[in-house]
Amino acid sequence: MKALILAGGTGSRLRPITYSMAKQLVPVANKPVIEFGIESILQAGVTEFGIIIGDTGEAVKAAVGDGSRWGIKITYIPQPAPLGLAHAVATARPFLGDDDFVMYLGDNIIKSSVRSLVEEFESLRPAATILLTPVNNPSQFGVAELEGSQVKRLEEKPKEPKSNLALVGVYLFDKRIHDVIAELKPSARGEYEITEAIQGLIDRQLPVRSTIVEGWWKDTGDVAAMLEANRLILEDMVGCVDGDIDAHSKLEGRITVGKGTTIVNSVVRGPVIIGDGCQIKDAYVGPFTAIADACVLEKSEIENSIVMADCTIKDAPSRIESSLIGRGASITRVDRRPSAMQLVLGDSSQVVLP
Ligand code: DAU
Repeated sequence: MKALILAGGTGSRLRPITYSMAKQLVPVANKPVIEFGIESILQAGVTEFGIIIGDTGEAVKAAVGDGSRWGIKITYIPQPAPLGLAHAVATARPFLGDDDFVMYLGDNIIKSSVRSLVEEFESLRPAATILLTPVNNPSQFGVAELEGSQVKRLEEKPKEPKSNLALVGVYLFDKRIHDVIAELKPSARGEYEITEAIQGLIDRQLPVRSTIVEGWWKDTGDVAAMLEANRLILEDMVGCVDGDIDAHSKLEGRITVGKGTTIVNSVVRGPVIIGDGCQIKDAYVGPFTAIADACVLEKSEIENSIVMADCTIKDAPSRIESSLIGRGASITRVDRRPSAMQLVLGDSSQVVLP
């Protein structure tokens, strides 16, 4: 069994963050999203990984590395253009050969490990196993129609979904998928859809199994989903405080504080993770906040947010919440006239004022 992780694509729903970084590298609880996928597959004993990369490939390579820190081997596979998930599989064919593989969308996080799925796949030997979960907004996903436990039909982002069962971004295949992909035509949105390829297996009367996911699953494709994934991961975090906390500060609940971080005269109410080398002073950090390395937070309040590395937040006039703040961003206040806002915002940025 090999693993194929998809980390190409565009990330248009996460702009402007994705103008300067791969969506699979956005940190959730201070860890790049893609690493959750790697670690979940690792638990199934898979050690040969292929990672599909696109325009942001160099950054993905730099962040993830050669796999040695997990004891796995990673092969990076450039996809010339993001022409769809089935196109990514076709691009990876030389790496996959005729082996079984677990495909994992690099912007997805599932709570459970894929171990039992791999074991079941290897003993029952279907052509494919798909994961499903009930959602409120099925038309934003691939949707499965079941007949008993059999998958009857799959449709990619249907306008009128036949069920509320969305395809989760984890799939297991054997080599039979490649024959279907070879005959696939682009969909109405111009992509080679893996959903249609799996439908092709069903049409050929090949066995396709489905499993409803245990525990939660998140496609971190937009800001709300990213913040929700952050909440879910922090919910399960075991705290560990390494930094220096002064006597005037109060830490409540589960909190992780990295090395070289100082917390002075502040309240931190968990679950919260704060990285290495941060300075938190006269501040409030509320539940479900992840602050990455080397950030400064002074005379400000924040909660339910993700703050990436090297940010400065000083004297923010009101509490910051439900925010995704990119690397090196600065939010400050000056006491001078005229009293006005001064903004330097990237394309597609969003500012919501109280
Ligand atoms: O998240 C689950 C959904 O993922 C499924 O329900 C859908 O059936 C499936 O098509 C997929 O839909 P998305 O619209 O969310 O896929 P997205 O374009 O976001 O791509 C998923 C991942 O694959 C993402 O990490 C980017 C990567 N990718 C995407 C394309 C189109 C590639 O590496 N290459 C590509 O060509």
